[in-house]
Amino acid sequence: MAQSGRLAGHVAIVTAAGQGIGEAIAKTFAREGARVAVVDLNRAEAERVAAAIGASAFAIEADVTRTPVVDAMVKAVVERWGSVDILVNAAGGFHRLAPITDISDEEWDKVITVNLKSTFLCSRAVAPLMIERKKGRIINIASGSGIAPNPYAPTYLPYGAAKAGVINFTKVLGRDLGQYGITVNAISPGTTATPRVVKVRDAESMKRIAEQNPMRALVQVEDTAEAALYLASPEARYVTGVNLNVNAGNLM
Ligand SMILES: NC(=O)c1ccc[n+]([C@@H]2O[C@H](COP(=O)([O-])OP(=O)(O)OC[C@H]3O[C@@H](n4cnc5c(N)ncnc54)[C@H](O)[C@@H]3O)[C@@H](O)[C@H]2O)c1
Repeated sequence: MAQSGRLAGHVAIVTAAGQGIGEAIAKTFAREGARVAVVDLNRAEAERVAAAIGASAFAIEADVTRTPVVDAMVKAVVERWGSVDILVNAAGGFHRLAPITDISDEEWDKVITVNLKSTFLCSRAVAPLMIERKKGRIINIASGSGIAPNPYAPTYLPYGAAKAGVINFTKVLGRDLGQYGITVNAISPGTTATPRVVKVRDAESMKRIAEQNPMRALVQVEDTAEAALYLASPEARYVTGVNLNVNAGNLM
């Protein structure tokens, strides 16, 4: 178990840590000495990531869209490690592209719930612990789609709406919790070739993004993980309410 590092002694919860950006964040935080709860709907993937990290991680199977499940997940972390210093809300995403006329009520609710409501539920569950100790970091994984439609590829309406919600949720909660020494920030990654995204985005739009954005690059999961590390680190103690773009200039 790492005893040193920029997050030594800190306890972190990372949701959707079974793959993609969440996995990279969990591993980066562990590398820097944090103890990490690897939370995912998919038990096998959460266990794989926790095993790769070692003794400073444990896997929790949880659907972070369900209040009792979220509350039990936070309770399990507190029982094991005493408290929670850092929460990363990475659960989200979308699984298809569709025009407004094809989007049912159920589909709308599902996308808003996994991207936005989960962020609320997890933040609400850790807030009393952080308020009591007058310290804490909440990091929400938003998206460029929450700022504006992607200039090089389609943006999926419910996702764009949910992530815009996540960005303003970050500012309002950051203002409300600032008095307790808690920071709340968002990161908006650019399109990243995670297992889900390579299924949902056609190769042509991935290519357009990579070849036409200002830096002519696709960001990698590690780019977002290092940004999350900064926001979790002691150096960022007075950085709150920001939405940090990690997108090779895809959107500004
Ligand atoms: N990949 C990108 O291009 C990109 C860009 C911008 C923002 N993001 C955001 O980053 C986050 C992670 O996306 P990704 O592409 O790295 O991940 P991914 O879709 O590859 O993996 C997501 C993980 O989340 C888990 N998950 C899904 N629903 C869950 C739930 N209800 N409770 C707990 N776990 C759940 C899945 O089992 C999976 O392991 C999302 O919020 C996404 O919107 C991704």
